[in-house]
Amino acid sequence: MGELAYVNGAFCEPTKAVISIDDRGFQFADSVYEVVVAYGSEPFRMPEHLARLRRSLSLIDLDIDQHNIDFDTIIREGIERAAFDETMVYLQVTRGVQPRSHLWSDDLTPTVVATFRQKPTVKPETREAGIAVMTVNDTRRVECEIKATALLPNVVALKRARRAGYKDVIFVGPDNEVREASSANVFAVRDGTIVTPVRDASILQGITRGYIFDCAARIDQPIEERRLTLADLASAEEAFLSSTTIDILPVTRLNGSRIAAGHPGPVTQKLYQAFLAGLRAG
Ligand code: PDD
Repeated sequence: MGELAYVNGAFCEPTKAVISIDDRGFQFADSVYEVVVAYGSEPFRMPEHLARLRRSLSLIDLDIDQHNIDFDTIIREGIERAAFDETMVYLQVTRGVQPRSHLWSDDLTPTVVATFRQKPTVKPETREAGIAVMTVNDTRRVECEIKATALLPNVVALKRARRAGYKDVIFVGPDNEVREASSANVFAVRDGTIVTPVRDASILQGITRGYIFDCAARIDQPIEERRLTLADLASAEEAFLSSTTIDILPVTRLNGSRIAAGHPGPVTQKLYQAFLAGLRAG
């Protein structure tokens, strides 16, 4: 079938999918989303994605249980219809449509849209070389654990990083603590241990991040959540990013300097093998 969209109960071609200009998702970014990947017909870590979606909805006071929406069926049906080998599902839930008003009405019906596209691939040479990232002060809203579509600081920072010759950006908070990339979580390897920032409201609780903890356990690789400063990252043995779309991607340069020797390191490579081995198994 190929690329496919879903809008409020019906599947259609992405170019035919329309929503109202009065949709609160469009006007206020009053909406949350998920990105799920399917290998074959099986969505990866679906229960975790659906749980995070419900949590995001609950954190914006959108009582989804009032509405009879079966996200699991929408996602699975779209994957079957699109029939890619590896599908990237984007699912967005907005609060609904009403004439523009900051104050929402209590009787709105949420808008549910989705797209089903081929999962993008990272070029092998990018994986082999690792990527260069730059840091920026984290000026985002504070509730980054909500997977909200209000991503303006992320998209502007990413574009500026690309223009400056970097592949991605890492948000750094006060006291120089490393938070996350524009759309990925951050990891460093220090003294042989994988370290990633503590799960709090300043970062998204990545599903891939959770999977990495499982992979590390499987190969007896020490891993821990810990405060990670910019200096810790700069002097790390290895670093990498993780997300549903990039899997694990080595970071080899930070603000123009190499991280260690400037090549993907053995811990990242071993972890990536375990990561790939478990993907289709869930
Ligand atoms: N984003 N942090 C941010 C800010 C993200 O946007 C994402 C993912 C992650 C990683 O989460 P996960 O492992 O669940 O994909 C961390 C998706 C891929 C996106 O916006 O397209």
